[in-house]
Amino acid sequence: MNDRKGFGSNFGFLMAAVGSAVGLGNIWGFPNKMGANGGFPFLILYLALALCCGVIIMLGELALGRKTGHGAVGAYQSISKRFKWLGWLGIAAAALIFSFYSALGGYCLRYVVVNFGNLIGAEFGTNGVGGADVFQGLLSQPDVSIAFALAFMLITMLVVMSGVGGGIERVCSVGMPALFFILIICIIRSCTLPGAADGLKYMFVPGWAVANGIIDEAPGFWRVLTAAGGQMFFSLSLGAGVMITYGSYLDKKQDLGKSTMIIVGMDTVVALMAGLCVIPGRFALDPNGALGGPELLFITMQNVFDKMGPAGPVFGILFYLLVFFAAISSSISMLEVIVAHFCDKAREKGKGDRRKLYSAIVVVICAALCALVCADGMGNNHISPAELLGLAGAKLPGWSTSWLGLFDSVAEGLLMPLGALLMCLMISWELKPDTLRQEILLNGENRPWVYDFFRLCVKYITPLCMLMILYGQISDFFI
Ligand code: PHE
Ligand code: NA
Repeated sequence: MNDRKGFGSNFGFLMAAVGSAVGLGNIWGFPNKMGANGGFPFLILYLALALCCGVIIMLGELALGRKTGHGAVGAYQSISKRFKWLGWLGIAAAALIFSFYSALGGYCLRYVVVNFGNLIGAEFGTNGVGGADVFQGLLSQPDVSIAFALAFMLITMLVVMSGVGGGIERVCSVGMPALFFILIICIIRSCTLPGAADGLKYMFVPGWAVANGIIDEAPGFWRVLTAAGGQMFFSLSLGAGVMITYGSYLDKKQDLGKSTMIIVGMDTVVALMAGLCVIPGRFALDPNGALGGPELLFITMQNVFDKMGPAGPVFGILFYLLVFFAAISSSISMLEVIVAHFCDKAREKGKGDRRKLYSAIVVVICAALCALVCADGMGNNHISPAELLGLAGAKLPGWSTSWLGLFDSVAEGLLMPLGALLMCLMISWELKPDTLRQEILLNGENRPWVYDFFRLCVKYITPLCMLMILYGQISDFFI
């Protein structure tokens, strides 16, 4: 009955899921948010949230997907009448994120090219211009940005067109280990630069960033919680239907509890490693550079490579390739969420395999949104939502100052936490108790506490945390 082709091996599934989780969020989000929110206090709160929300939501999504064998919408539909629209929240989040993520992925490709130019001394290198000017130049050429973003989307599309086992699994099984390897090389280079120690202090020593004037005041509890919560959703790819979709391709031999711990653990380890790679370099070679966001990746890091001497371009190419791998393995999961849903529908109606057709259609639609992000140049080219609404100038909330900000805030700030909250409510109050028990304990029967912990959290602790995070995010929306 279920003729969907899934993952070929558990290793392949893990690499695909880890590939989805590990992405731009780890490389610029985590290290900067950790430094700006007190270092260790943020880490502890993040880990606590990852354990009693992240792990629970991921386990819930994987179990829903595998139990029903459907993509995001179908999974909810076949389980609950009342919550059947919930999958659409995930699809909307995936589409919005895919649109701005591709713009950023395109920038990564461009920077691989630029650093290659530096290596061979060609015209298309940085030509002694600083990272800020390189980036500014890029932002003011929407046509070039769009071309690179399209290249990124086309690569994503080709992988998704090749299917789950043949495309996604194969690319991630090679890309993820490669990423890990390059990351280690970059960490060694970064941490042995003179002055790198300040970067480690920024990340790990509580109060260091405030004492050294890098941020103005220590953030309060709510700000740290909101930062950690948003980061957790985005970083673990939760609330976007990804884990439901990937779970639906997973065979019954695998222990979901163990897989969940591996995915969450790897994502956290890579986030910390990315911090060790990026932040010490910034403190050593570009002490006034931005510490987060696209500026960290595309201005600060380029300055770091430009100041490294003859080996700079080599590390530049390696680094931007690494970020590209991280981004592409995440973007294929976003596209897969959407494509899987429409393929399921087509198959139900007996229309056969329409994967290629749907991949192309979705990419065309998201490319239009992505073009908006590129043309806007992160708010630099004066077509941001605020400016189109004639509101520019006043003190504006972050979401209105660029299309990227808007897509990000709606997806990460609203759709993902809301979707996850409602999923918890559905699992704990609408499903018969223990509906998911068998699914979760399959091949993990010797650890019944996994399910007990899941049930306790999914009913009380996770929804409560989710409400607190939502409250924090929504109050951020209005200032
Ligand atoms: N987890 C990815 C990152 O850290 C982003 C992502 C979000 C991927 C939602 C898929 C779905 O960059
Ligand atoms: Na991540």
